[in-house]
Amino acid sequence: EIIYVLNDYKHLEEKVQKLLKIKRIIIVPGDSEKDRTVLKEMGRVCANYIKELIHEGSIISLTGGTSVAQVVENFPKINTKDVLVLPARGGIGRDVEIQANTLTANLAKKINANYRLLHVPDNISSETLETIANEPEVKEILDVLSKSDLLIFGIGRADEMSKRRGMPPEQINELIDKGAVAEAFGYYFNKNGEAIFRTPSIGINFYDVKNIKNVVAIAGGKNKAEAIIATRVNNPNMALVTDEAAANEIINIL
Ligand code: G3H
Repeated sequence: EIIYVLNDYKHLEEKVQKLLKIKRIIIVPGDSEKDRTVLKEMGRVCANYIKELIHEGSIISLTGGTSVAQVVENFPKINTKDVLVLPARGGIGRDVEIQANTLTANLAKKINANYRLLHVPDNISSETLETIANEPEVKEILDVLSKSDLLIFGIGRADEMSKRRGMPPEQINELIDKGAVAEAFGYYFNKNGEAIFRTPSIGINFYDVKNIKNVVAIAGGKNKAEAIIATRVNNPNMALVTDEAAANEIINIL
C-alpha cells in the first residue's frame, strides 16, 4: 500500500516568496548541500516548471553549474517547435560536463530544439574580449541572447565561485573585501544585491535580465542562503527552485 504524504510547504513558500519579492518559489524537502538526491529532486521539479513555460519560438538561455545540470538531466523528452537554446555565458570553469555550452546542447537535444554555442574562455584580457565580442558570429549570438524569453541560472557563493573559476588569490581577496557574497551569470553581488564585479567573459547582460519574461533560478543548501538573497535581478517574474534548508535560513537572515 502506498501512502502519499502531502508536504505542507505552502506556508514556507509563501513566506519566503514575500521576503524575496519574487513571483514563484518551489521548495523541495531536505538540504541539497548534504544530500545529492535533494539536488536531483530540485532539478526534476525545476524541469517540470520550465517545461510549461516553453512555447513555439521560445529563446532559452542557461548558465552552467551542477544545479542547472540537474535540470537538464531530469528534463523530460518533449517535442518543441522553433525553439532556440543558448548558453547565457561563454565557457565557465574547467569541468566541461557542467559548462553552459554542454548543458545547452544537451537540453536542445532533449526538447528537439536548435542551439548555438559561445566558445569564449573566462579571465581573458579586455582587449581580446572586445575583439571576440565584435566577431560577427559572436555578435549575432549576443544579440539573440538579449532577446531570451526564458533564462535558467544557478546561484553560487562568491568565495566558492571565484575559486572554481580559477581567479587569482589576490583578486579573490579584493572581491571578498569589497563585499561580494554571490555570483550568478558571471556577475558578483554584494549583500545589497548590487552587481559589483563582472567576470571578464562574454554573455548575457545584467541589464537585460530584468526584462526577460521568465527568469528561473535554481539554488539550494543552507550555505547558499545569503547568496540567494543577494542575487537580485530586479525582475518581478523571477521564480526560484530551492530546498527546505536554504528556505529556513533565508527566513533566519531576513
Ligand atoms: O553561478 C553559480 C553557479 O552556477 C552555481 O553552481 O549549481 O554548481 O552550485 P552550482
